[in-house]
Amino acid sequence: MEFLTSGFREAFGREPEGVWAAPGRINLIGEHTDYNDGFALPMALPHSLTIAAARREDGHVRLRSRRFPGDHGFDLAGLAPGTVPEGAAYQAGSLWALLDEGHEIGGLDLFVDSTIPAGSGLSTSAALCCATVLAATGLYGDMPAPAEVARLAQRAENDFVGMPCGIMDQSAVMQSDEGRALFLDCRSLATEQEPFDLAAHGMALLVVDTKAPRRLVEGAYAERRRTCEEAVGILGVRALRDVTVEDLPRALDALPDEVTRARVRHIVTENDRVLKTVELLRAGLPREVGPLFTASHVSLRDDFEVSVPEVDTAVEAALAAGALGARITGGGFGGCVIALVDTDRTDACAAAVGSAFAEHGFGAPEVFTALPSRGARRLR
Ligand code: GLA
Repeated sequence: MEFLTSGFREAFGREPEGVWAAPGRINLIGEHTDYNDGFALPMALPHSLTIAAARREDGHVRLRSRRFPGDHGFDLAGLAPGTVPEGAAYQAGSLWALLDEGHEIGGLDLFVDSTIPAGSGLSTSAALCCATVLAATGLYGDMPAPAEVARLAQRAENDFVGMPCGIMDQSAVMQSDEGRALFLDCRSLATEQEPFDLAAHGMALLVVDTKAPRRLVEGAYAERRRTCEEAVGILGVRALRDVTVEDLPRALDALPDEVTRARVRHIVTENDRVLKTVELLRAGLPREVGPLFTASHVSLRDDFEVSVPEVDTAVEAALAAGALGARITGGGFGGCVIALVDTDRTDACAAAVGSAFAEHGFGAPEVFTALPSRGARRLR
């Protein structure tokens, strides 16, 4: 926190009025289900993005950071999609969403820092949008409920940045609890806090940042989403959430091509895996979710086709070294793998992933363990 406030002081020559933190997230299971009205089960990471902020009277916004390159400034008046440089778009979009929906906010000085590994699919962008909404509404005295902050942050990405993401990342950032996994119904937006005290069961969650370059992420993501929407039209359902595993064979018969069939098969079976995972957690059987994680990976690799060789290598190496289950987490096309491991296998799994990467000539991955942590909040 001292680093952040001294950074603010150096950048703006005055004291911040408040400090906010928003965590990164991993998704335990339920991938690409959010924009299909389905289920997801994310948790917040201990790593977070922090913002120190103070109001300005001139309607201007200044952005500074020691971590993210480029200093940016823009006026709130006339703010519209496409009017600010890329580096400022997430924060500008968050303030634009607030203004567009009638929130009375004014100018701001914002200083950002982050311990979330950037570019790894751990939702730095959702954390940045959520923290910006919290800082602006916190200082101007008009703070919405956490689920509403999540919706505004999603709107910033959808309508200002142009990323057609669902609501899973922002919900995880805003609504997660320590020691819990967040069960999210992306249609009703109902949430439940599920028990996920791994240490009490002698387990740990290993996160492998593969550092694989995330190429074509947005285009491929939008394409997956479009295919799901086309399938909805053909099947005459409200969303793929409404196709059950029992309905699946009939639904697949009605679809015109193998790619669409594979995408739909992933969404339908993935929703089912989330529900089964939640049942096991509620029954106090977290060890048994391992095979569901691995099945989710196989489905994302073969049916949804969002994996890359580095990610598959990490999953296979972790499983071969005794992980109970392992899968890609997040949108895919690179990013991170999670592996559920017995605590005494943690080092062996991490080492096995490192050696497998070296053998394949991939750059060294970063491996850490993570406990489910708290959602976004004001620090002072
Ligand atoms: C990205 C998106 C989310 C979600 C995941 C895949 O993280 O931002 O909305 O669709 O991909 O589950």
